[in-house]
Parts: sequence; C-alpha cells; structure tokens
Amino acid sequence: MNSPVTFVQEGSIGLIRIDNRPVNAISPRVVAALEESFAEFEGRGSLDALVIYCAGRTFVAGADISWFESSDFNPQAYNRLLARIEASERPVIAALHGTVLGAGLELAMACHWRVAERATRLGLPEVKLGLLPGSLGTQRLPRLAGAGTALDMMLSGAMVAATKALRDGLIDEVCEGEARAAGKACAQRLVESRAALRRTSALAAPSPPVDGFARYFTEAGGKPQYPARAAIVRCVEAAVERTFAEGEQVEAREFAALLGSTASKCLRHLFFAEREAARIPDLSESSALRAIGKVGIVGAGTMGGGIAMNFANANIPTVLLDTTEAALQRGLDLIRKNYAASAAKGKLTAEQVEQRMGLLTGALEYTALADCDLIIEAVFEDLELKMQVCAQIGRVAKPAAIIATNTSTLDVNLLARAAGRPERVLGMHFFSPANVMRLLEVVRADDTAPEVLATVMRLAKAIGKTAVVSGVCFGFIGNRMLEVYLREAEFLLMEGADPERVDAAAESLGMAMGPCRMLDMAGVDVGAKVVIERAKAGELPADPGYRAVVRKLFELGRYGQKTGAGHYRYDGRTPIPDPEFSAVARALGESHGIARRDDITGEEIVERLFYPLINEGLRILDEGIAYRPGDIDVVWTAGYGFPDHRGGPMFMAEQIGLAKIAERLRHYADLRGDAFGYWTPSSLLTRLVETRAPLSKWARTA
Ligand code: 3HC
Ligand code: NAI
Repeated sequence: MNSPVTFVQEGSIGLIRIDNRPVNAISPRVVAALEESFAEFEGRGSLDALVIYCAGRTFVAGADISWFESSDFNPQAYNRLLARIEASERPVIAALHGTVLGAGLELAMACHWRVAERATRLGLPEVKLGLLPGSLGTQRLPRLAGAGTALDMMLSGAMVAATKALRDGLIDEVCEGEARAAGKACAQRLVESRAALRRTSALAAPSPPVDGFARYFTEAGGKPQYPARAAIVRCVEAAVERTFAEGEQVEAREFAALLGSTASKCLRHLFFAEREAARIPDLSESSALRAIGKVGIVGAGTMGGGIAMNFANANIPTVLLDTTEAALQRGLDLIRKNYAASAAKGKLTAEQVEQRMGLLTGALEYTALADCDLIIEAVFEDLELKMQVCAQIGRVAKPAAIIATNTSTLDVNLLARAAGRPERVLGMHFFSPANVMRLLEVVRADDTAPEVLATVMRLAKAIGKTAVVSGVCFGFIGNRMLEVYLREAEFLLMEGADPERVDAAAESLGMAMGPCRMLDMAGVDVGAKVVIERAKAGELPADPGYRAVVRKLFELGRYGQKTGAGHYRYDGRTPIPDPEFSAVARALGESHGIARRDDITGEEIVERLFYPLINEGLRILDEGIAYRPGDIDVVWTAGYGFPDHRGGPMFMAEQIGLAKIAERLRHYADLRGDAFGYWTPSSLLTRLVETRAPLSKWARTA
C-alpha cells in the first residue's frame, strides 16, 4: 500500500505532501507516515525550509472520526509530532487549500507560517461532534487570533474565509495561485530574509475576551446537554491564565472526558449516519448520473416557492408553473420577500437577490416544462388532481426527464403510473419551510430506476439537503412515526395531562418543541385534514376516538397560531394555557370512555410518547421502508427537532435498552389495552431482544 505521506526535495526546500483521500483525514497511519517524512527533513541538514501541503480537494479536514471509536485512540503521538514541527530550527510553512479543519488547522497552527489559497475556509468544528480541538487548538488559536475570536470559532464550529482568517491573524498570507507554489515562494522569502521563526506556543498569552469569560460560561451552562461548550471555555480560560504547558494538560483532560461522553457518541453517530444515508445498498457505483441543468415546479404555493429557492440558491434555472397569473405572482412575490429578509439580515447582497430572482421564471403553460431535466409537482394534496397533473407533466416532459412528487401522504406508485413512465418517477418530500429545512425524504417507488434515485440523491447534496431514502407507505418514514407520537399525545390529553405538561415532558427529553405546540404551529387544520382523508382511505383507524382531539379542534376552528387558538391560546406566537382547551379535552375523554387520571408522571409521558414511536421505527425497518436504523435517526434529527445529543430515536433506543422498551410497551398494553395495535412489541423488537442482537448492527438481509 502506498504511503499517504511523501517527502521530496526541490532545490533547498523540502516538501511534505499528505495524500489520504477523500479529505486527508489524520489517522494513525498518516501520523506514522508524517513522522517518517518529518524525520527525513530533520535528517537532511542541507535543506533550508519545509512546506507541508495536501493533494486532492483539500488540506487536512480533521482527524479521522472513525479513529475515535477505536480503543487505541490517542492524540498524543500527533500532538508530540506537532510540537516537534513547531520546534524546528528551520522554517516550516503550511500551504493551505480547501477546508482546513480540526486537526488540519491544528497542524497549520503548529507551523511557523501559513499561506492559503483565496477560496480556503478554516475552522475548528469539533464542537459539532461534542468534542473540543484535542491537538492544542484551544491553546494555539487564542494566541494567534485572540481569545474572543477563538471562542467564537470553537463554539460555533463555523468555517471562516481565508480573508477573514488573515485579518484575524490566523494565517499570514492569502495567495492567488496554487498553495504549493505559494508555499515554496514563501519558504524562499523567509530563508532569504532570515526571518525569526514565529512559534505559536511561544507567543504571549492572549488577553481575556473583551467582555470577560462570564458570558461564555453562562451561555454554555444553559446547554448542559452539550458539555463540550463549557469545556472549550475552560480551555481558553487556561490559555489566557496559565502557561502553554499547563493549558495543554487542561485540554488533554477535557478532551478525554468528552470523548467518552454520551453527547459526543451520539453526534459522531449522526455524522456517519448522514453520510451513510446517501448510500443506496443495491445501487452500483457506476449508475450513470444525469445532469440537472433546469428544474420545473408545478404549484407556486408555500412548498413550490420554497422548493424553487433551493435550486435558485444552487444556481439552477427554475420554472414555476401555476394555474393563474395571480397565483404565480403571489408565489414569486413571496420568494422575493424571503430573499429580501435574508438580505436585510446581511446574509445576501442585493446583487445576489437579483441574480437568484433572475434564475426563476413563471409559466402558465405546461409546454414551458419541455426542456426541464427534473419536474417536481407541489399542487394541492388531492389524489385526483395530482394524478391529472402528473399525466400532464408526463406528456410534455422530455423522455429522460425525472418527475417527482412532493406529496406527504399520497401513494407515489399511483402517481408514478399516472405520469406514464413509472421508472422515472419518485417522491421528493421536502419539509416546510422548504428553503430552510435540511431534511429531504426521497421516496423510492416500486419501479423507480436506480439511476433516477442516484441522480436525485446527488442533486440533494448539491442543494444542501440531507437526504434519506424511504419506501412507499403512509407518511413515509417521518410522518408515519409522527402519527404514532401524536396519537399518544392525544390520549394523554384526554386522560387529563395538560398540553403544557405533555410539551414540557417532550422538551425535557430535548425535543425542539412538544407535540401540542408543534401542531399549533404547523396548523391543526393541516393535520386534521390528513387524519380525516387517510381514515377515509382506510390507512388510519376510522374509530371516532382515534385522533379525536385534532378533529375536534378543526371543527371548532382552533387551527393553532394562525387563528390565535389551538391547544393553547396565543398572544402573537406565545402560547398561553387555555382552560377552554382543557374543557374540550375533558369532554372528549368522557365521550370516548377514557378514564381520567391525576397521577400521570413526566416519565410516563416520555415513555408513552417515544416508545411506540421507536416500535414503529422498528416496523419500518422490518418492512424495508428504511434501509438502516441510522436513516431513521437522520430523519428525526434533521426534520423533526429530535435532539441530536441523543443521536436519534433508534440510537436512543439502544442506549435505553431494547428489552426495557419491550417490557414497558407490554406494561402500557396491559394498562391501557391495545385497541390500535401499537403497544404490541414489533416482531423485530421481539427478535432483537430474544437474540440480544444490537440494533446498530442490524441490516436487512432480504
Ligand atoms: N474523518 C473521517 N472521514 C471524514 C472526515 C473525517 N474528519 N471528514 C469527511 N470524511 C469523509 C466523509 O465520511 C465522506 O466519506 P464518504 O464519501 O465515504 O461518505 C467523505 O469524507 C466526504 O465528506 P463529505 O461528503 O462530507 O464531503 P463534503 O465535501 O460535503 O465536506 C468536509 C467535506 C467539509 C470536510 C466535511 O466532510 C466535514 O465537515 N467533515 C468533518 C470535519 C471535522 O469535523 N473535522 C474535525 C474532526 S475532529 C478533530 O479533528 C479532532 C482533533 O482536534 C484532535
Ligand atoms: P399550497 O396550497 O400553498 O400551494 C399549492 C399551489 O398549487 C397553489 O399555488 C395552487 O394554485 C397550485 N395549483 C393547484 N392546482 C394546480 C394545477 N393544476 N396546476 C398548477 N398549479 C396548481 O400548498 P402547499 O402547502 O404548498 O402544499 C403543496 C404540496 O406539498 C402538497 O402535496 C402538500 O401535501 C405537500 N407538502 C406540504 C407541506 C406543508 O407543510 N405545507 C410539507 C410537505 C409537503
């Protein structure tokens, strides 16, 4: 196997090249090879300077995250190497390009000089993995850029542009050409000018942030579920108040503690789950992918407009089609308003707004879609209408075009057949607001061609979505599980738990919003219509006691925030407990023969909301609707506000213990009866408990 690191000599300059694709991550093998190459430089006394650069798309983008999972993980060897590099008596220059992240930026900061291509971005994103920079980033960055900037970078995990990094003192030079050549030129200059070597660890300790550390500690203390935040502040405080060597010890201690933390394990799980979700098991790498140069969207409403913005943002020309000039104009006006709001916040320039609006055109005739490579329908949620629209699209679209539906509840197989070319049809289930929400469920219908699926998965990444494949079933992965969660929330309400208690319990687990507030925000009417329609279609129980609360609120015109009342009363967007709602819930409970209880604990609420949801997730796996447990975790964390520090519902299930979940499901079945069948442990849950097999290792064999 070729070494991932090579050393060459060009004149009096040594060059170390790291080549460990895709992102040149630091692994034990890379550390060993780097040590060897550096020793070679040390041994060649005739050389004047050393340049470290990377092959491929980026400089080192971090430590190899899978290395953290192995029992022999220890950053000490790497840290010692960085100290050796910094101690060199001859200049060492880091030549940067791409995304210089984590252990990559830490390497760069141990060098004496940093030159970066203009498009380079730099960051310490460890906090997103529940960690802190463990190779002296917490000590070197404050010395280079100041404590305030270092804290902002490490607590946000965000990347900064090379020009900002230059202003902040993090790098020394921005070059126009290639990093390697610029690095060499720089080395020559430093040698000729006999510049004194600038060792970051020897720089004066930085001043504290202008407004002190208290604010940072308070902010971190408010998020105890993310222990990395406070640990980062403690490390920077040590950088300010103590010697470099002492700071190093503080960082090592904090890093080791975080590595074993549950939050970090969960966040690392999600990092890999999100990337794994993009892989489709039965698809060969060679599936020919189509270029998507132009998109058409039918229906310029809430969703159509939001979807269009995704493509305009990615520089893809998009046609929006609606039935009337007025509807079209409303849609385009709303898009402009959204862009103007981003511009007002300084996120876009006026030129960018115009450039994006310039990519959008309106149309009233289907012929305008004839040259589109992808056409997405987002008209009203009505099967007959959608069948007609799909047929019309099928008639005008070019043969290779892909046709997608944004339906949230209808049968994608039926729509695929209506389009007349089922192999080129799939679902693209965006979430509202579609220009903001990260999740995209890509629905693979029975006849969807592999190449069509692969093309859409790649496109999803290009427009910044986190895509997960789902099979066809009611609600796909996310809403099918949501249904279980919402129906149990309703039973709790009818038994006498107030909305604020139900929400508080869900939020105590870390949900962004409890079920009642969420439905009030999304619209009780929207939820009720789905329940009514799907019950008619036989996909949900027709029993009037089933989802009785949402039906009743709909009947009463309590649609949630938009009508000022739903599960709560609203003062603007602020929910206020409403005795009128309690009276409605009480009456419903009585009329459906549901016994009232006053001993419902927070723990019971959490178990009853989440254990059936997990059980449904296991059914979804068993039926082959989702490929793997991690896909479900991605759906729930990226689209439903499930806490990332718990890794998603399936990862959480494993932490709780599958046997315990099965036992509690049986307990509630005994307590409450099982009229709707969701307390019965799923067959997969039973099998996993019996065989004591880990869910994380589960893979469909069929
Ligand atoms: N370790 C292992 N694999 C990594 C990796 C890492 N740090 N970063 C990226 N990869 C892999 C991905 O899994 C993916 O593999 P796949 O193609 O087999 O699925 C491949 O590299 C490409 O990644 P993306 O699909 O994410 O490509 P993008 O171009 O969209 O993004 C990136 C590239 C900006 C580098 C992004 O991958 C990223 O943000 N990576 C994480 C960077 C990070 O968190 N670094 C810090 C690590 S912790 C650390 O360094 C600790 C130290 O302080 C001790
Ligand atoms: P909407 O009512 O805001 O927009 C629908 C648009 O379609 C309107 O502009 C209407 O004029 C247009 N339209 C109707 N018939 C048409 C036809 N024959 N040809 C062209 N245009 C036509 O609805 P919304 O909320 O945007 O929903 C659209 C779709 O997105 C539905 O299938 C819905 O289930 C789905 N969806 C909605 C989500 C939401 O939260 N609103 C979330 C995910 C999916």
